Amino acid sequence: MEGPRSWTAAGAGFPERRLRRLRRTPALRRLVAETRVTVDDLVAPLFVREGISEPVPISSLPGQSQQTVGSLVLEAKRLVSLGVPGLVLFGVPERKDARGSGAWDRDGIVQVALSELRNAVGDELVLIADLCLDEYTDHGHCGVLAPDGTVDNDATVDRYGAVALAQAAAGADIVAPSGMMDGQVGAIRAALDGAGHDQVAILAYAAKYASALYGPFRDAVDVTIVGGGDRRAYQQDPANRREALAEVALDVAEGADLVMVKPALAYLDILAAVAATVDVPVAAYQVSGEYAMVKAAGERGWIDGDAVALEQLTAIKRAGADLILTYFAAEVAGQLHG
Ligand code: PBG
Repeated sequence: MEGPRSWTAAGAGFPERRLRRLRRTPALRRLVAETRVTVDDLVAPLFVREGISEPVPISSLPGQSQQTVGSLVLEAKRLVSLGVPGLVLFGVPERKDARGSGAWDRDGIVQVALSELRNAVGDELVLIADLCLDEYTDHGHCGVLAPDGTVDNDATVDRYGAVALAQAAAGADIVAPSGMMDGQVGAIRAALDGAGHDQVAILAYAAKYASALYGPFRDAVDVTIVGGGDRRAYQQDPANRREALAEVALDVAEGADLVMVKPALAYLDILAAVAATVDVPVAAYQVSGEYAMVKAAGERGWIDGDAVALEQLTAIKRAGADLILTYFAAEVAGQLHG
């Protein structure tokens, strides 16, 4: 034969292997699929806002709303009926202050909502509370500020301990510190254990990048960072991979029960590296901007939004996620139930 070797490899001295044989029918494909997203993998992020009487749609997150406590409970019951095992809750307080005191107030919006949720759904849903100050501070940073305007690490970590106690007392199964302060996981574990909350788990936002993909989320929680600032002095630089592994190792050593990589799709290399390294469950957060992009292109008819959502979630799982926080949770659960 002339030219390059024939694609069939016939006569080339090795057995012919045709990879298309196992792709031939839907049943064959189902049988050999390595990765499947299931409802059991999904966690739905939800927003509860103080001082409103009707849910307020979030325009940059089509299909998502700021909920009242009442509509939040209905949403949680819908998740139970769809078989989604968990939600992660974010609060939008009526008033913000310099220290973010609404975050640890016993009557703060998330605490009130958590106890209502617990009463309504019992143990049928895992209640995860995002643990941060940015929704509660008037300057929009994830912690308390030092006189020079930078975020004071240790003063912030002290407040995170107080937030964890308030969330645990209100009924959180898991607290999820997202502020990227050094030592936050250890301090929260100590605070919880010291108050008898040794069964409350910690999901550490361990490798969390300073991403432009959080834009719609900031609309959802009414956060503007003072003076056009950003979070690059505490969240990770998207250029770096090694420090993600250092962050994860520290969080596990400090007592994290689960670790998270965030955002998801643009960080699959990080996710795969983390999943190969740790012996705790690994979560990935498909963030607001990732959701918004799929929704926007889907609405224009430029892509099939449902198919792309499932494809991206499958990729996130294939890269190593055991669970995925995603605004698609309810929708995809419906799709998977067919
Ligand atoms: C901080 C927090 C943020 C998100 C989750 N927790 C915002 C930020 O770090 O700026 C973003 C989630 C998303 O974009 O969907 N409380």
